[in-house]
Amino acid sequence: MEAIEVKDLRKVYGSTPAVAGVTFTVHAGEIFGIAGHNGAGKTTTVECLIGLRRPDGGQRAGAGGGPGAPAPRRGAADRRATPGERAAGADEGGRGVAGVRRLLPRPPADWRQVMERWGLGPLARQAYGDLSGGQKQRLMLALALVGDPEVVVLDELTTGLDPVARRETWRLVNDLRASGTTVVLVSHYFDETEALCDRLAILARGRVQATGTPAEIMAATGTGSLEEAYFALEGADR
Ligand SMILES: Nc1ncnc2c1ncn2[C@@H]1O[C@H](COP(=O)(O)OP(=O)(O)OP(=O)(O)O)[C@@H](O)[C@H]1O
Ligand SMILES: [Mg+2]
Repeated sequence: MEAIEVKDLRKVYGSTPAVAGVTFTVHAGEIFGIAGHNGAGKTTTVECLIGLRRPDGGQRAGAGGGPGAPAPRRGAADRRATPGERAAGADEGGRGVAGVRRLLPRPPADWRQVMERWGLGPLARQAYGDLSGGQKQRLMLALALVGDPEVVVLDELTTGLDPVARRETWRLVNDLRASGTTVVLVSHYFDETEALCDRLAILARGRVQATGTPAEIMAATGTGSLEEAYFALEGADR
């Protein structure tokens, strides 16, 4: 079953064609990667997908897109709120991400359980501004999961994380898939997409250069890793 379909998506900023006709399908329950260099158009693609940006052309269908879709959850910048208050805000319509609950398509998960699952329990009373970069990142992800979404879009989730936190985050993303959540994982780390993704699209200069499973993309390019595949595709494109 398809969770998301994107057809010929286009987005131009001024005279910059950031996304120049992107087509892919995300199947329900999979981890779908969007990989590519800095400025390839990955974030613009997913922002169009979840309704944060209005595309200039193309169609998108499925969870997370289209008019009337719930607003994507983003952490509010209330630096005084502790993680506990923020998560509670998501659950109870209080401070933090106030009112988010009304926008949720499904009943919210228990925020305390989400906090524990993501290792944030001990930090619940620490002020948000005092959390480390990695802890803030983890909190943002936990907040997104309070809504128990069918599809979650994770953009550069592990950037800035130490190697242990990175591996731990990979494990949690695998757990998310195991619990039935469809994951769209934006990353410029090819080892990450290779390790985690069932299928992926490689973007370069706003266009899809390849789609498929990591094994299919490697086989098609005659390479032994996604990173090599990327360079092989780039070489062919120039
Ligand atoms: N708000 C904006 N206004 C103008 N140009 C933009 C805007 N956002 C992105 N761009 C441009 O669009 C192109 C694609 O940017 P995008 O952020 O989608 O890339 P990305 O693949 O997510 O890169 P990164 O790996 O660095 O996050 C880039 O050339 C960027 O400079
Ligand atoms: Mg980006």
